[in-house]
Amino acid sequence: IKHLRSAADLDAETATLILDTAAEMASLSGREVKKLPALRGRTVVNLFYEDSTRTRISFEAAAKRLSADVINFSAKGSSVSKGESLKDTALTLQAMGADAVVIRHSASGAPHRLAGWVDGSVVNAGDGTHEHPTQALLDAYTMRSRLGRLDGLKVAIVGDVLHSRVARSNVLLLTTLGAQVTLVGPPTLIPLDVAAALAEKTQVCYDLDAVLPDSDVVMMLRVQTERMQDSYFPSAREYSRRYGLDAPRLHKMPGHAIVMHPGPMNRGMEIAPEVADSPRSTIVEQVANGVSVRMAVLYLLLGGK
Ligand code: CP
Repeated sequence: IKHLRSAADLDAETATLILDTAAEMASLSGREVKKLPALRGRTVVNLFYEDSTRTRISFEAAAKRLSADVINFSAKGSSVSKGESLKDTALTLQAMGADAVVIRHSASGAPHRLAGWVDGSVVNAGDGTHEHPTQALLDAYTMRSRLGRLDGLKVAIVGDVLHSRVARSNVLLLTTLGAQVTLVGPPTLIPLDVAAALAEKTQVCYDLDAVLPDSDVVMMLRVQTERMQDSYFPSAREYSRRYGLDAPRLHKMPGHAIVMHPGPMNRGMEIAPEVADSPRSTIVEQVANGVSVRMAVLYLLLGGK
């Protein structure tokens, strides 16, 4: 594939190739190979119109470990404040010879538009409420490395599904790889159109306590209060009582089951601090795996040697 705009771009074979390549990248890093020459002479542009900590830094680290030249563009402080469009910004980057553009944008579909304007590969680093495919890949990688498989795994994705690009990409990727996904949350945050569109792929349940004993993975989503309207979200306290993962709920999960969160977290809202910091939590591991997975994505898209 040339671009990674959606988890739907990946069939099972391609997704598995990315996960296997990421495992090789991690193994090299574990053997103190800090830098590979694979993308020497290639240029990766990180084009971030929305804030990010994990994704932006890990794409930069991934590109540098592959010896690529990296240009970091942040909309803040750029000519975007003077009204420059995404297209003109893209053409400017194209003129500087970008081989790959990693884009995060508040508009769903921005990576698709960008792919029509630049010659290089486009990687979606999160577009609006639409998708975040490399997050889904690093989540799948983490599940596979902790639990040994993806096929048949029971994964509960819990919380603010309505606003979550992480949930959408995970549903697409995990079901492609044979996992069984259940979406859990208040009815106001699991939109009927999403539930209907994904009905063949997922189950929907509004009772977290009923789902926990039969889950191998519980993935908590950030409550995106910045996108919330009162009608969706009665109160933080009520939400936490019904859908927050605290220590008593952690004990309802099977002994082998893991807790995930893409970050950033609202500690004390969707996840209790003692759960986030417990040995059952893979939250820090997910961040570390993100570098290996993004190395694999850049390597494969750019035909690294
Ligand atoms: N998970 C994730 O995308 O985090 P950032 O917003 O910090 O990149």
